[in-house]
Amino acid sequence: MKRIGIFTSGGDSPGMNACIRAAVRTAVYKGIEIYGIRRGYNGMIKGDIYKMESHSVSNIIQKGGTILRSARSKDFMTKEGRQEAYNQLQKFGIEGLVAIGGDGTFAGANTFYEEFGIPTIGAPGTIDNDLFGTDYTIGYDTAVNTALDAIDKIRDTADSHDRVFFIEVMGRDSGYIAIPCAIGGGAEIVMIPETKTSINEVVETLRSGWSRSKTSFIVIIAEGDDEGNATEVAARVQKELPHMDARVTILGHVQRGGAPTAADRMLASQLGIACIDGLLEGRKNVMAGVINSRLTYTSFTDTITKDKPINPAFLKMVDILSV
Ligand code: F6P
Repeated sequence: MKRIGIFTSGGDSPGMNACIRAAVRTAVYKGIEIYGIRRGYNGMIKGDIYKMESHSVSNIIQKGGTILRSARSKDFMTKEGRQEAYNQLQKFGIEGLVAIGGDGTFAGANTFYEEFGIPTIGAPGTIDNDLFGTDYTIGYDTAVNTALDAIDKIRDTADSHDRVFFIEVMGRDSGYIAIPCAIGGGAEIVMIPETKTSINEVVETLRSGWSRSKTSFIVIIAEGDDEGNATEVAARVQKELPHMDARVTILGHVQRGGAPTAADRMLASQLGIACIDGLLEGRKNVMAGVINSRLTYTSFTDTITKDKPINPAFLKMVDILSV
């Protein structure tokens, strides 16, 4: 393999740049040409592709976002879109791809291989950490630390005013961000899509805390929780506990930005190298990840279809530690 294309796709995450840097420098180190594809599959379709050198990735390891930009491409979901993407890759002589993204990105790469035979190696780039085949995804550690920093600040004001704060963190389908935020942020309750916590349980936990002379509370809600978003949950709880002074904070996209932590830079660098190595070893349609500190490659099919369950012991910890 002489020429590799690299792109980022889906929601960005801190550390994507570190991963791009590692892949580009590994390719250069091994004498392989590497081409950056801007804005994910959309850029592939448009031929927004440029040759990258070692200096193309100077001074980016510490930066959030992605220098290659990102997008969620509707056009790539069509056969015509994928045909055009293939034509563009042919034009540039690109024989293999490095895709930094989540399960949607890898599903697209799988279909692309079936139709056009272009192999892809993926790096898990999402703050959600909900990908099977790796203990951690690139950006997760940073996102959790960003959220925790905000939660600590909210706790100060919650305490000063004897308030209950309902704090919504990201995680469309997953509580991976919510759990360490709840444990590390000293929350009384955590609500996540993987398990059911009824409004009644929330009300009872708060009521019981109140009766034990607690005067301020933190409830962490993953955005994808079944009971609704933080605003809805807060309104329903407030109705049952009118004496409590409730406030809502939605942390939102602040969790997706900022300088990656040391852990994310390490993971991203390791996986960026693994993507190039994987392609050169002849691997295809697998995601590089780290499980129990060991580098692994997991098929895109497993990554897309298998769940990465939350450890129930962590939920129990929230209960025990908020007694
Ligand atoms: O997948 C990462 C993520 O940040 C989710 O946690 C969140 O639901 C979603 O992306 C938000 O996407 P968008 O940037 O399109 O609003």
